[in-house]
Formats: sequence, C-alpha cells, structure tokens
Amino acid sequence: MVKAVVLGAAGGIGQPLSLLLKLNEVVTELALYDIVNSPGVAADLSHINTPAKVTGYLPPPKDGSKNAPNEGLKNALTNAHLVVIPAGVPRKPGMTRDDLFKINAGIVRDLATGIAQYSPDAYVLVISNPVNSTVPIIAEVLKKHGVFNPKRVFGVTTLDIVRASTFTSSVSGADPRKVRVPVVGGHSGVTIIPLLSQISPPHSYTQDEIELLTQRIQFGGDEVVKAKDGAGSATLSMAQAGARFASSILNATVKGESGIIEPSYVCLDADSVGGKQVKNVVNELDYFSSNIELGKNGVEKIHPLGNISEYEKNLLDAAIPELKANISKGISFVADGS
Ligand code: NAD
Ligand code: LMR
Repeated sequence: MVKAVVLGAAGGIGQPLSLLLKLNEVVTELALYDIVNSPGVAADLSHINTPAKVTGYLPPPKDGSKNAPNEGLKNALTNAHLVVIPAGVPRKPGMTRDDLFKINAGIVRDLATGIAQYSPDAYVLVISNPVNSTVPIIAEVLKKHGVFNPKRVFGVTTLDIVRASTFTSSVSGADPRKVRVPVVGGHSGVTIIPLLSQISPPHSYTQDEIELLTQRIQFGGDEVVKAKDGAGSATLSMAQAGARFASSILNATVKGESGIIEPSYVCLDADSVGGKQVKNVVNELDYFSSNIELGKNGVEKIHPLGNISEYEKNLLDAAIPELKANISKGISFVADGS
C-alpha cells in the first residue's frame, strides 16, 4: 500500500498535482485534503481508471466546537507514505514570497502538527511559500513532537530546475528534456542560485548570457505572477514539477531505484549523509538546497556544491544573508509565535 496525501488539494496547484499523482501507478491510495471542495475533486479523479483509490476530506464545520478534533485531516494523513503540501495563498503582483509568511506560516504549522500526530514517518514535500521559511516551520513542529527526521522533509525547488532547463535550452538550442542545471540555495529571488557552470550536457555561455539567464531563473516566478495579473502564481508548471519530485521520491523509497539525484531544500543537520560538509561552505546555514541523492530512506547523500565559478560564488554570498533571515523567521515563528 502506498498512500499519497495532498494538503491543499482543491487549489490551483493541488488539483493538477492530484491528477498527476492519480496517474502515478506506484500510488495505491490518494487522499485529498483541503478546507474547501476536496470531496468534489476526489469524486472527479476517482473515475480515472488507474489503481489509486481516491478519497476527499474536509475539516470539521466552523460552527462546531472549537476544540473538535480534525477528523478529516486525521483520516487523510493516517498511514501516509508521502504528504505533499501546496496549501496556502499565492502571490499577487508586487508581493514577495516573504509577504505570504503572515498567512501561510500558520497554515503550514497547523498541517505539520497533523503530520506529527497522524503520519510522523511520512515523506513531507513542502510547496507552500515562502519555502525558505515553511520548511524550517515544518521541521520545528516535528522536532517539538520528537518525530523530526531530516532525511524525510523536502522543500520542493524542482520548478527552478525545470525553468533552468527550459530557459537555458532556449538560448543553446539543446533539447530541454535532456538539459540539467543544478539550482542550489533557496526558493526566492537572489536565494535561487543556478550553477550554469555545471550544466549538462556542457555548454559555454557568454558572460552576458549567464547574467541574463541567471536573472530569468531567479525571477521566473515573477513572470507568471505578472502575466496572471492578480489571479495567482504558477500552478500548472508547479504541479508538473511537484509530481516529478514526488515520483522521484516514490521511485527511490518504494521501488528502491538508486542514483536518483534532485536538488531540494533540506535540513543540513543530517551529518551522516553529508549535510555538515555543505553547511561548512554556506556559512553554517541550517537549511539549503543542494543536489540530493535519494535512497530507500529518503535523503541518501547531500552532495557538495562542487566547483563553482567566481560569478556563482558572488551569487552564493548574496543569497546567504537572506536565507539566514528566512530560516530564523520560520524557527522563531514556531518557538514563540512571532
Ligand atoms: P491556491 O489559492 O490556488 O490554492 C491553495 C489551496 O490551499 C486552496 O484550495 C485553499 O483552500 C487551500 N488551503 C488554505 N488553507 C488551508 C488549510 N489550512 N488546509 C488545507 N488547505 C488549505 O494557491 P496555489 O496557486 O495552489 O499556490 C499554493 C501555494 O504554493 C502558494 O503558497 C504558492 O506561493 C506556492 N507555490 C510554490 C511554488 C514552489 O516552487 N515551491 C510554486 C508555485 C506556487
Ligand atoms: C514560483 O516560483 O513560481 C512560485 O514560488 C510562486 C511564486 O510566488 O512565484
């Protein structure tokens, strides 16, 4: 039995992501939770002829007792192998991802409490922004409950990888499906660090091209926010990216496939898998996205950054203070609610 759960399943990302998970034949049960519409989305997807049995859950009605247990969340999460979280509000033009913290931090904290109670061993994939802070929030809640496993909590930065393949190949003419660019750091503006010097297959860009491509990858999310003009941010490309990352996790942890490497924003405290080595070069940050090798227990190895150019070193220097502030903000939110 492989149960996948989507928290925020009725939203712009949640619906297409749930569709793609329904099409993933490793999944035998798909539980959809949202504060609205999840039973409808579940009924719709349940007619697709793939193995996953689909169920939809809601929280208790608002007019009930304030302390009523959230049976919907409990039933959705119980026995989960994988939990993907796209719950929360998206940006509007003019906002930064950090502007979402006020609303999304509380949403993510409460969902993490449910995970700690009902599915403490699940692999947790965090999409809700600001990812740089929401991942530390989840980790801190799980720590409070004594169930944090740094090998199982992932900030999903795959959309940056997908964009990097698309944008770089539009300049080089390469097949975007075959191009891989490690994108490290975090998931907002200058914290997104594409390592174009490590592009595969190798390609030499001019310095002008490197600067334009870096800027476009760092601010790719803004392109979509602007084009949607108040109607939200990336949903369809994010659903594809989230499903790709979820599939990598399932292929490693269920099918036992080895050698799967995907960048992801993780806690660097897992020394046994190389976290401390990366931590040393990123000024002791507790969280950072680097190439992650997946294995049957989640993070198998956090790969070092490798050789990076002078330009990329400067990008890293610019990212570190912002990442540090984003991480502290998440940790303090759980510690003292501030
Ligand atoms: P959306 O508003 O379309 O959907 C969000 C869903 O979350 C809604 O259905 C809403 O009802 C639900 N929700 C709100 N509170 C909830 C709660 N307490 N429990 C369960 N569900 C709850 O937004 P969207 O476009 O799907 O974006 C969702 C989030 O993903 C945003 O924070 C956005 O910034 C983020 N995002 C991240 C990336 C990334 O690369 N990591 C990419 C795109 C968007
Ligand atoms: C993205 O990169 O598209 C997401 O983080 C959404 C956003 O706010 O840009």
